[in-house]
Parts: sequence; C-alpha cells; structure tokens
Amino acid sequence: MAAFPAFLLLFVAVVSGQIQITPREAVRQVGESLDVLCKVNYPISFCRVEIGRESYTIPSNSPAPGDPTYYGKGLQEGECGAHITNIKEAWNGDVYCSVPQQIGSREIKQSMKLIVARPPGNPELIVSPQQNELKEGETIRAICRVPRGRPAANITWHLGEEEILNGLKPPVITNSSEPGLEDVTQELNKVLTADDDQKQLACRVSHLGLNRPLEARRQLDVQYPPRRADGSSDEQITIFGLKIQEDGRLNVTVRSNPEPTVEWKVSDVTLLPGHPNSHPNENSVWTALHPLRLPQDETPGSGYYNITLVLSPVTSEDVERNYFLTLSNKHGEKRLMVKLSTLEQPAAQASILRLNVYGMELEAGAIVGIVVGILILLLAVFLVVFAKATDRWCFAGGRGRDHTKNSGESSDTESAVGGRPSRLASLGARVRSVLPRGKDKVQATEPQADKPLAEDKKGVVYAELALGEQTSDKPQPPSTEYAEIVYTEQPKETKETKE
Ligand SMILES: *[C@@H]1O[C@H](CO)[C@@H](O)[C@H](O)[C@H]1NC(C)=O
Ligand SMILES: *[C@@H]1O[C@H](CO)[C@@H](O)[C@H](O)[C@H]1NC(C)=O
Repeated sequence: MAAFPAFLLLFVAVVSGQIQITPREAVRQVGESLDVLCKVNYPISFCRVEIGRESYTIPSNSPAPGDPTYYGKGLQEGECGAHITNIKEAWNGDVYCSVPQQIGSREIKQSMKLIVARPPGNPELIVSPQQNELKEGETIRAICRVPRGRPAANITWHLGEEEILNGLKPPVITNSSEPGLEDVTQELNKVLTADDDQKQLACRVSHLGLNRPLEARRQLDVQYPPRRADGSSDEQITIFGLKIQEDGRLNVTVRSNPEPTVEWKVSDVTLLPGHPNSHPNENSVWTALHPLRLPQDETPGSGYYNITLVLSPVTSEDVERNYFLTLSNKHGEKRLMVKLSTLEQPAAQASILRLNVYGMELEAGAIVGIVVGILILLLAVFLVVFAKATDRWCFAGGRGRDHTKNSGESSDTESAVGGRPSRLASLGARVRSVLPRGKDKVQATEPQADKPLAEDKKGVVYAELALGEQTSDKPQPPSTEYAEIVYTEQPKETKETKE
C-alpha cells in the first residue's frame, strides 16, 4: 500500500521527463523580454518552445523578426532555452518547452507561467457613514476596490503622511468580469480621533504595470467639542509674565471643530467678542477677541485657535481676579478658569502649546515633593525621639538588656499575682516600661496617696511625705496647697506673694 504513492511519484517524474525549467513563473510588462531555460541531463537533437498560440523550433536557420531565439549552452549540453522579446499581452499564460525523450521517439515537455502584467483600473474608495461631517470616537468603515488587474493590485492605506497598519482586513481577490483579470478589495475599520481631522484618507494602489501608484482619497472632517490644546483636562490655566500698567493679552490656545463661540465672565461682567471695550471700568478696558485660527503648518494638527482677552492696561486688581471662559460648539462646551501672574513662566522649555501645562505640572510636582520630604523628616525625628525616650527599638544592645530585665520582672509579677501566664505579665511589664517614667512613678505612689485620702483629716501630715517623694520629678500644685494648710494662717497673702 505504501509503495503505491511512491511509484506514482516516480511515474510523474519520468513522464514530465526530468526537465528542469527556470523560472517557473514570471511577471512581465508588455514589451519586456524573458529568458526561459529547460534543461535535461542528456544531449538533445531538437528544442521547441510554445508561446501563446505559436510553436517555434530553435535555434532556427531563418528566424523571422520578433521570433524567440535560442538561449543556453547548446543542445549537446541538454539545454533548450528561449530568449523571448517584446512580450505581448496575448502571451499571458503558459510557455512550454519540448525536447526528445532520452530513449524512444516521444517528445516530453515542461511549462512555466508567464503573467503579462495588466495595470488595474482606478481604485474606488467608499467610506461609511457617508456624510461629510464625522464625529470623534465614531468608527468608520472604508472599502477600497481595485478592478481588473493582473496580477491583483497591491493596496496600502494612508492617513496624511502616515501609513495605516492597524484595523485592516486581509485583501480579498476575486475574478474580474473580464477573463484573466482580478479585482481586489480591502476593508479598513478605524476609530476617529481629533488628530484625524482634515487629513486625507487614501487607498494607494501599486502594481507592476503602473509607473506611479494610483490613489483614491477622502478628506476627513472629524468634529469634536472644544478643549485645551495641550490635551490637559485641568480647568485652570495660569498666564504668566504679565506686567502691571502695560497691556496684557490673556491667550488661551484651544482645539475645537467647528470653531468655538467665546464667552468671558469677569467679576460678573459678561464679555463677548465683537464688542470692543465691552467693559470699561475706571482703570482699564477689557476686550474679548474673536477666536484666531492658528495656521495649520504651525500647529501639530488642525482646529487650533487662540482665544484672547485683552486687558489695557493690566491693573493690580486684575491680577487678583478669576477670568471664566466658556467655549462651546454644537458638540459640547468647555469651561476654563484663567488666572494671571506677573511672575515669569517657570521652566520655559518645550513647545509653545505646552508651556502653560509644564508650568502647572512643575508647581504641583514641587509641592508634592516638599510635603513628602517633610513627612519623611517628621517620621525620622519621631522614631529617633521615641527610641531614645524609651531606651528601646533600633538599638541592638538595648534590646538584649530589655529582655533580661523583662523576664526578671515577669517572674516577679508571676509570683506576686500567683499563676498568671508569664506572656501576659511580660506584656504588661513591656507596656509599663514604654510609658513615660513620670507616670510610672505616679502609679507607684498611688497606693501611698490613697491612704492619706482615706483618713482625710490628717492629710496634712501625709502631704508632707508626698511632697518629699515627688519634688525630685515634678513640682506639684497639690503640694503647695498642702504647704499652705500646714504653715500658713492667711492663705490669700501667701498666694499673692508666690505669684
Ligand atoms: C499672546 O499672543 C500674542 C500674539 O497674538 C503675543 O504677542 C503675546 O505675547 C501672547 N501673550 C502671552 C501671555 O502668551
Ligand atoms: C497663541 O497663544 C499662545 C499662548 O497660548 C502664544 O504664545 C502665541 O503667540 C499665540 N499666537 C498667536 C498667533 O496669537
């Protein structure tokens, strides 16, 4: 069973006759030339090629102009080749070569595929949805169809200067209505962004038969609500570098499609463009300007506008104010609060459109840094003080000593209380040793202080004792009171003298 396919293979190899043909396939334009070589490993007595509907014997004693000529090292070498010139469109198809069989009188032949290129027709680009105005976030489906090419044309997609590589489906090649030609179709799905606005979506067709690519284009009009030009969602903008008593221009660069309408609100006064000097107060005149469209070659994209409020001149009160700016178009609105500063722009690098944000970001970053720094410092100071005050923590030597002390104490407590778990006892000891020393002493004196309070008439005597014990650590107001009672007949006078 297994021998059967092998036998079949051998049979095919013998019948197709050990002829090696090169190339096996070639694409040529009309008028170009092609060399085809067939080779066997024995000397041959003749060589014949078939091109289109004609059959030629080569080399020929009397070739006609335009006939193929012999190509190869000679029939003795087993080489049967043809140099074909001035290729005609009708020759599209198989090219054959025939040579005699090594033994016997039959002819054997071999073929290669000659594709005579035929440039495709003009590409067709269909974008849906079909209306002109598209919205940011919307997904468009674009289909490019290139008819009647041979071989099928090659499609690439471009948006502005950039090639689109994502969102493409594989090209689909189908037989054209015209026999021997192929149509090719490719689909692109793309989510629109503001950056796509005013760019050309192009389906570019390249083909061997074309000197320059063909293109089908569509300009995109992608609309979106107004926003800050730098893409920041921060609603506050600070304008730096204004000078008191000089004219000041509050420029805010925004992006919007279509153009935004502008409304400024300053100290409850509404300022609209087209009403020059619309708020003359006693010191200065405020004028809202119409949006100024920035030239597209000076901005990273389309839809950039400068929105400007002119203060002539800037007064010191103006610096204190907030300037509320509302921008709107049919897709939405954006409110911004503009503040002024007479300081220079911090960190004056980066592109013109990002300057303001960079200023803000740096400021915020610095504040966060300072706060974090202070917190770390406080924590460090606290840890050191704590460790020193309790004579514990962080000091390896101290820790060992504490342990011995604790175990001693705990055993004491255990015996005193009688049968309590030593863990709990040592915990109690630890807690006490962590507490400030002053309180520890108070605790220690408490039992003694309780007794005199119980026999309260004679508290005077015990108060003296308490005074003696406590003076070393803290001067106690109660002890002065007791002293008054003991030694003085007129408490009021002593009080006065002490104060
Ligand atoms: C605002 O724009 C004008 C140009 O229109 C420029 O001269 C001025 O310096 C800008 N002002 C600020 C604060 O950026
Ligand atoms: C637009 O505003 C920016 C500040 O946001 C300013 O630097 C620039 O000069 C302005 N350009 C024009 C043409 O007014």
